[in-house]
Amino acid sequence: MRKKIAAANWKMNLTFQQGEKLLDEILGAGIPLAPHQEVVFAVPFPYLIMSRSEVEEEMNYFISSQNCSQHKSGAYTGEVSAEMLHSVGVPYCVIGHSERREYFAESNAILAEKVNRCFENDIIPIFCCGEPLAIREADTQNAFVETQLKESLFHLSAEQAARLVIAYEPIWAIGTGKTASTAQAQEMHAHLRSVLAAKFGDAVADVIPILYGGSVKAANAVELFASPDVDGGLVGGASLNAVEFTAIIRALA
Ligand code: PGA
Repeated sequence: MRKKIAAANWKMNLTFQQGEKLLDEILGAGIPLAPHQEVVFAVPFPYLIMSRSEVEEEMNYFISSQNCSQHKSGAYTGEVSAEMLHSVGVPYCVIGHSERREYFAESNAILAEKVNRCFENDIIPIFCCGEPLAIREADTQNAFVETQLKESLFHLSAEQAARLVIAYEPIWAIGTGKTASTAQAQEMHAHLRSVLAAKFGDAVADVIPILYGGSVKAANAVELFASPDVDGGLVGGASLNAVEFTAIIRALA
């Protein structure tokens, strides 16, 4: 059975104390997860170790970093390597979020390297893709995201691909309150799965969770997650609120 994931992306929000309190509130809700359901918290680097100890005893709750360097190690002041993340017990890493692509000039080629660093260090990449508004308006979004996948993921082996998590996040829906319709999300997710199937085979494409991101909230999560190819969400704003995010976790069921 394909994994269903509710992933929180805190971005550059919350102090350490606020983050700890939020985790306590969410974990305190004691929401039991089925074996195929997971909750992932993508927290800022300095909170990873605290967050790891918070989720350690909880079945199917995990932490993630929001980024890693494309380089293995060396003179890259301010960067954090996948090897460092692995050494502190981080199992997931968000790769290629649209904010990284836009503000930090992360190209598809750089992201391919980051994906490689993750796999070398036994970290599962949560690989983000998604089109800007102009591409959606020109109705060329399918080709656009296909190129993102091709240039960053198609060098992988089928075994590696089978461990990926993909997040489809239309840029026009991120932080805007404007969610893709359930039909738009399902259509794109089915397209992404067909692209993955053509490259890696049906069996591999069938096990890759494809999360939807972009203004997911308690009010729309149930409907979005009910689509056959929408396997959960990558949640920004609503993940900073315990009531909202616990409702989103419950929407996995
Ligand atoms: P949002 O962000 O839920 O605030 O739209 C989603 C994301 O950027 O991952």
